[in-house]
Amino acid sequence: MKGLLENKVVLITGAGSGIGRAAALLAGREGAQVIAADIGMEQAEAVAAEIVRAGGHAVAERIDVAQRARHEALVERVVATHGRLDGAFNNAGVPGPVAPLLDYDDAEFSRVIDINLKGVWHGMKAQIRQMLAQGGGALVNNSSIGGVVGKAGISGYSATKHGVLGLTRSAALEYASQGVRINAVCPGIIKTPLYDGVIQGDPATEQYFQTLQPVGRWGRPEEVAEAVVWLLSDRASLVHGHALVVDGGFTAA
Ligand SMILES: NC(=O)c1ccc[n+]([C@@H]2O[C@H](COP(=O)([O-])OP(=O)(O)OC[C@H]3O[C@@H](n4cnc5c(N)ncnc54)[C@H](O)[C@@H]3O)[C@@H](O)[C@H]2O)c1
Repeated sequence: MKGLLENKVVLITGAGSGIGRAAALLAGREGAQVIAADIGMEQAEAVAAEIVRAGGHAVAERIDVAQRARHEALVERVVATHGRLDGAFNNAGVPGPVAPLLDYDDAEFSRVIDINLKGVWHGMKAQIRQMLAQGGGALVNNSSIGGVVGKAGISGYSATKHGVLGLTRSAALEYASQGVRINAVCPGIIKTPLYDGVIQGDPATEQYFQTLQPVGRWGRPEEVAEAVVWLLSDRASLVHGHALVVDGGFTAA
């Protein structure tokens, strides 16, 4: 049986860890030619090697998503090598500090905006330009439940994730008639190295996060990857401008 992404050329940023890594591995299993891009080249190479060992196709690329020129150069390299770009998962992101707004450092705010919001903006520009030229494609941007509801202490992060949904919905309207599908996922509380940094080995903090989602447990990166791969696939052909929550019921309340 053919995979969901059979022979599609799919670029994933932040592919070296967590949700991006899980999406890259699943895309590889579903038949995609995966471009695993990350600021950490060793991590990206490890993921690409894992896909190849499992019988799939993948290459690793280094990218800092905050730098616009890197996106354009990367898409050019992908097209030179693979001939096209069918799908992109703009996933790379950082949590930023936890602090009330008045204590939130301006430089840190700019850094979170540069990576989480402008990183997606730059990626979308390079990717959509190529997809229009070739006659279509699919984008998935990684927002968050922090892009759907507010949470005290993470105003910078939350602003970027709300912004990602704005970019997703507006651009989806702009390019829907030209065959470019643009959607977002909004993961809930997913056990990845991003959260390991927040928990810092404290069992009480780990237990606290576990109870936040109505399902009473952490989400797994693989559960988000399933949504991403489906949205990138032709099976989601009528899904445009959607923000798909994968959050164990968190935002249903
Ligand atoms: N873990 C969660 O609960 C959760 C929930 C909602 C949304 N998200 C979002 O999911 C995405 C991935 O998070 P994760 O939990 O898998 O984190 P993670 O830390 O495990 O992975 C993030 C990856 O992004 C890469 N990265 C960071 N800055 C980069 C840059 N400037 N350029 C290129 N790559 C860069 C890192 O090297 C890392 O490999 C983020 O956008 C995050 O905001 C995560």
